[in-house]
Amino acid sequence: MPRRERAGNSLAFATSREPPLTSNLTPVVLAAGKGTRMHSAVPKVLHPLAGKPILGHVLDALAEAGTAAPVVVVAPDVPAVETFARAHPSAPTLRHQAPPLGTGDAVTRARDALPATGTVVVLFGDTPFVSAATVVELAATRDEADAAVAVLGMKLADPGGYGRVVTDGVEVLRVVEAAQLDEATADVTLANSGVMAFDAARLPALLDRLPPRPARDGNHEFYLTDTVELARTAGWRCVWHGCDPVEGLGINDRAQLAEAEALLQQRLRRRAMLAGVTLVDPASCYLSADTRFGQDVVIEPHVVIGPGVTFEDAVRVRAFSHFAVDAPKETRPIVVRRGAVVGPFARVRSGSDIGNGAHVGNFVELKNADVGNGAKINHLTYFGDAGLGPRSNVGAGTITCNYDGIAKHRTEIGADVFIGS
Ligand code: UD1
Ligand code: MG
Repeated sequence: MPRRERAGNSLAFATSREPPLTSNLTPVVLAAGKGTRMHSAVPKVLHPLAGKPILGHVLDALAEAGTAAPVVVVAPDVPAVETFARAHPSAPTLRHQAPPLGTGDAVTRARDALPATGTVVVLFGDTPFVSAATVVELAATRDEADAAVAVLGMKLADPGGYGRVVTDGVEVLRVVEAAQLDEATADVTLANSGVMAFDAARLPALLDRLPPRPARDGNHEFYLTDTVELARTAGWRCVWHGCDPVEGLGINDRAQLAEAEALLQQRLRRRAMLAGVTLVDPASCYLSADTRFGQDVVIEPHVVIGPGVTFEDAVRVRAFSHFAVDAPKETRPIVVRRGAVVGPFARVRSGSDIGNGAHVGNFVELKNADVGNGAKINHLTYFGDAGLGPRSNVGAGTITCNYDGIAKHRTEIGADVFIGS
């Protein structure tokens, strides 16, 4: 029975199998939709959450689950999504969908890349929080029930724009899109997260029979969710598995993007604090998914930490400081070494390495700068494409001026130097 309490059991069961279930699990990630509701020149799945594209969160979770390499369905006229997916360490197989004729059509485009047996799990590139464990649990639920389809559902007081999963308690009878609710389905509170597991052997027959549905643009589209009724018609079981509503959060517009960002920030802050970081005012500290902290780091209020930043032990970041690698132009990470003090009001950019016990003070901007151990740049300074030796001091109002309009000429200042009046 697809109940949340059983999750732990099915996972244990799954991991004790030979061969492990995950090796028999092929994910398909759909990322070819138009993302119309974002009203954006940036493809929806590439909008960042805690500094990492939404799609990156999905692919990372699958890599953690240890599934076979995912198949990612992308739009050929949106090369940025394809480029991002190609560069992912899980080495996805890519398939094109054009035009985007719905989630059912998108899986059809991936068909030739899918195995003949095992479980195919379809995930959406706009649903970033589905965990590795849940993907495995859903596949196990399908497998145990020998169902053709397993739907990942979530109980919501107000399921809003989500499709509704209509069940008889155990079996899923159908999934109804929010726009097509009728009297019988209006009160259903089990929402479709969008994640669905299929018996690979029976999936092609279901895809073959998907009925065209009228689309908003006057065209037609194919809903992946229609596989449920088709499977039942064939006499095959359809079951469901429950997940935490946060895991099923789908991002379709900027309001949902902000909701997801807030949830993720809360998680990242908590994880940092439990690992030994003091966040004086957690709510005003913005972290990135890849921020790395040593022990006893103290972050004062109103600090923004973009991607690519490491803080070693006992670093103090004073209020209103900003750290960011300006990707994609700049990629060199930022390291703040043991016991250094940065801020208040400091801006630390790509490729900056702040040495042990160094001080970087108010209204100081660093870019591609190596600041030696114990060195100080404390007031009103631009220090870019430059190196400062150990224990040197840069006085107030000093700037490095090393860009001639074409090339940047690095400025090197040695150890124990004193600059200023
Ligand atoms: C979909 C589900 C809905 C579910 C919700 C969960 C269908 C018909 N509806 O609605 O039941 O509650 O997700 O968030 O499945 N995509 C393609 N090609 C397409 C269309 C979409 O690759 O032709 C991709 C999109 O990039 C996106 C995902 O599929 O990542 C979902 O598409 P979206 O348009 O956001 O579907 P929803 O309206 O959210
Ligand atoms: Mg969506």
